[in-house]
Amino acid sequence: MPDTLRQAIRDVVDFPKPGIIFKDITPILSDAKLLRRSVELLVDTVSEHQIDKVAGIDARGFIFGAPAAIALNAGFVPIRKQGKLPWETHSLSYTLEYGTNTIEVHKDAIKPGEKVLLIDDLLATGGTAAAAIELLRTLGAETVCASFLVELSFLEGRSKLALDNVQSIITF
Ligand code: PRP
Ligand code: MG
Repeated sequence: MPDTLRQAIRDVVDFPKPGIIFKDITPILSDAKLLRRSVELLVDTVSEHQIDKVAGIDARGFIFGAPAAIALNAGFVPIRKQGKLPWETHSLSYTLEYGTNTIEVHKDAIKPGEKVLLIDDLLATGGTAAAAIELLRTLGAETVCASFLVELSFLEGRSKLALDNVQSIITF
């Protein structure tokens, strides 16, 4: 199945900027079986843990994070881009593959010691996920695992993550 998922990903040349080859996951999203299987595989990696919360990263991490939370009988925590969360937040800025970004999480989203699975669609440079893991640490969460649908291993983002358990379903 990971091969089928891999084959469904579409390369888009020069998006969003010249020189970038964008990995377009929308063909997976629009296929009922591939979407379901993606969520099952993202959840498989933590089946032996009792996960309290799934944290998903704005925006594409939400697509997989919320169904993963339901599958694990866990709550869902949105880690959002700056200015989107209404209540008190912790925030962190980081360098993206192209540009910079700031992400935020509500201060009361996770209780200290709660077990969290972090989900995003893509691990590229690792800047986004590293910032998210740092935010979760600030909240006192125990981040059990970070799971990604796609990993661009040549960018070595994994090495930026202060986490032993990093899983990806499709590696390029
Ligand atoms: C993309 C992708 C990851 C991040 C990975 O998000 O969805 O969240 O980049 O890059 P990194 O490992 O180099 O940090 P982006 O904010 O570009 O778009 P999105 O809002 O569609 O998720
Ligand atoms: Mg994203």
